[in-house]
Parts: sequence; C-alpha cells; structure tokens
Amino acid sequence: MNYECPAVFNDQYTSSVGVIIRSQTHNFDDTVRQIIETSIIPRGEPFTVGDYGSHDGSSSKDILEHLLGNWRESPNHQKVFLSMCPTSFYEQCVPDNTFHVLLSFWSVHFLPSSVWYKDSLNTFPDGSRAECDAIAALACDGWQRFLLIRAKEIKSGGCMLLIVPAQDTDMKYGESRVHLQNLWVAMTTVWRLLRDLHQVTECEYEAANYPGYYRNEEELRAPFRDDASPVVKAGLRIKSLTLTHEKVHILTQRCKDKEQETEDKDDLESSVSKFVSTIRSWTEYMFMQALSSRSPDSRRDVVNTFYDLLVEHIKQQDISTCGWDNVIGYVVITKK
Ligand SMILES: C[S@@+](CC[C@H](N)C(=O)[O-])C[C@H]1O[C@@H](n2cnc3c(N)ncnc32)[C@H](O)[C@@H]1O
Repeated sequence: MNYECPAVFNDQYTSSVGVIIRSQTHNFDDTVRQIIETSIIPRGEPFTVGDYGSHDGSSSKDILEHLLGNWRESPNHQKVFLSMCPTSFYEQCVPDNTFHVLLSFWSVHFLPSSVWYKDSLNTFPDGSRAECDAIAALACDGWQRFLLIRAKEIKSGGCMLLIVPAQDTDMKYGESRVHLQNLWVAMTTVWRLLRDLHQVTECEYEAANYPGYYRNEEELRAPFRDDASPVVKAGLRIKSLTLTHEKVHILTQRCKDKEQETEDKDDLESSVSKFVSTIRSWTEYMFMQALSSRSPDSRRDVVNTFYDLLVEHIKQQDISTCGWDNVIGYVVITKK
C-alpha cells in the first residue's frame, strides 16, 4: 500500500498523450475479437481483466468497453466489477490465476529502480557507457521480474496485451532509431542551460533522471528465446510482437512560402507551445522531484522557466528534427 510511483503525470496528460494512446489500442482490435470469439468461460463465472499502469483509465477505456460490452452481450455475463490496486506491478498485485486478460499500455518501460545519469536526462544524449549498461541490465531484470509475476496472475489460456515505447536499434522499422531521441537532446540542452545560469544547483541538475528504458526487439524477445528460461518454463509465449514507427503530428511544418510568413510564425508559436505542454504532461515530475528540497513556489518557478525556455529552444531548431518520433512495440503474450 505504500508504493510510491516514480512517474506522475500532470492534468494535461489525459487530453494530449492519452488521446494518442487510446487510438493506438485499436491495433489490438483483431486480438480482442479473437479473445471474445474463442474464449469459453462458463456462464456465471467472472471474466477478469486487469489494466496495469492505467493512470486514470482513459487510454484503455475503448478496449475495456469493447471487451466487457461484448462479454456481457455474447455469453451474457452481467456481473462486471472494477477494482484498483495501488501497488507496484513489480510485485504480485492479485492472487494466482486471476486474469483472463491483462492490459498494460505505455507503462512497462518504467523500471523498479533507475540510474543516476551524471550529465544526461536519459541514456541519450550523454549517458556514459557504464550508465547505459547499468540501465540496460536493470531493464533486463525488470522485464523478467514483470513477466514472471504476471505468469502467476494470468490464468492458463489467458493473455496479456502490451504497448511499449521501444528502440529500433537496427532501424528495421523506419527512419527513427530511438523513441523521442531529439526531444531528449533538446530537454537536456535546456536543463544544462539552467545549471549554467545557476538557476539549479549541480546536485539538482544531476538529480533529474528518467526512470524508464526503451527496450529494443532483441531485449523484448530475450526472456522467450530459450526453452530453459524461467519465463518460458512459467508458460508464457510471445504470440505477436510488432514494432512500428509512428510520427505524432503535433507540430505543423514550417512553411517555405514568404507570403505566409506572419501566419506561419503564429502557427509555429502555437504549435510549439502545444507540443511542449504535451511533453510537459509526462516529463514535469522528473524536474519536480529533482527540485524537491525547495519550496513549492520555487519549484514551480524553475519548472515554468524550464518549459518556457524549451519552447524558445525548439522554435530555433529545424522543427522536422524535433518532432515526436515514436518507436512503439505492440506485444501479445499468451499463457499456456
Ligand atoms: C505513461 S503512463 C500510461 C498510462 C496509461 N496506461 C496510458 O496508456 O495512457 C504510465 C503509467 O504507469 C504507471 N507506473 C509506472 N511504474 C509503475 C509501477 N512500477 N507499478 C504500477 N504503475 C506504474 C504510472 O504511474 C503511470 O500511470
């Protein structure tokens, strides 16, 4: 009960990022249809669905409504209950053999512990070799731990649907290799500027770290490769794993036409602000935590300054290199 989540999202999250993720859940429509058509659950027995790292539940709303609505209609299961579990998904959250279906969207990249990057917010732009190796090792352990616990919680014949931000190390799936790489470069540049202007101390500067890791395909598949692996022995199998490269069009393109320059400037101004407020919705907590020894007002001032400067910084860049490039993994895992 005393689990404190490292990642806390601000009020903007649901109306910005949440909407994007909600549309991504439709990638599972075929899988959901199959689940509904092929599962045979005796009448009167509950159908159990879990959603881990659900935030306010808005992103998984469509898929849950689809699953539960169909379930109510076809096998006439009328008793549907919702409950919440305020514990970490790196611990067992429910009794063994609880779930028929388990969802977790954009959450499993958060790790049970993180690395203290000396001069970077994340592995890129400037995580040292040792820091990058350390976070990759934590991510490897965390993934196996997450899977082994879920193997207990999911019923035999059940499945798990995951959306994970990822890395496309070999550039098999598109132009962008890493989720949001350019944005992390921009944020680190501005955070350094605040340190150099003595608006944050060296200690606060170092304390801002992203507690997540974008796994590549090899890392996602690793626990399933070998028949002797504990995850395979626990009955889990990858049914499908697809990485896609998705561009999120929050920023409008800078228009080259001279006559449209004024209009474009306004357009650029508002689209960069909108973009940064979207990014702020899921990154702000990192800076708030790094500034935790200050008064609430002082924290708020520094964080406001950071995002104002980020807007200015991005406006100076070639917008095409600052967009939101997502490499996203859609993973379906079954339990034997
Ligand atoms: C990016 S949000 C995703 C929210 C929602 N699933 C969606 O797709 O919009 C990540 C969520 O994972 C939660 N989270 C991160 N680490 C967690 C952990 N160890 N246990 C439970 N929840 C965690 C965060 O609190 C947050 O709600």
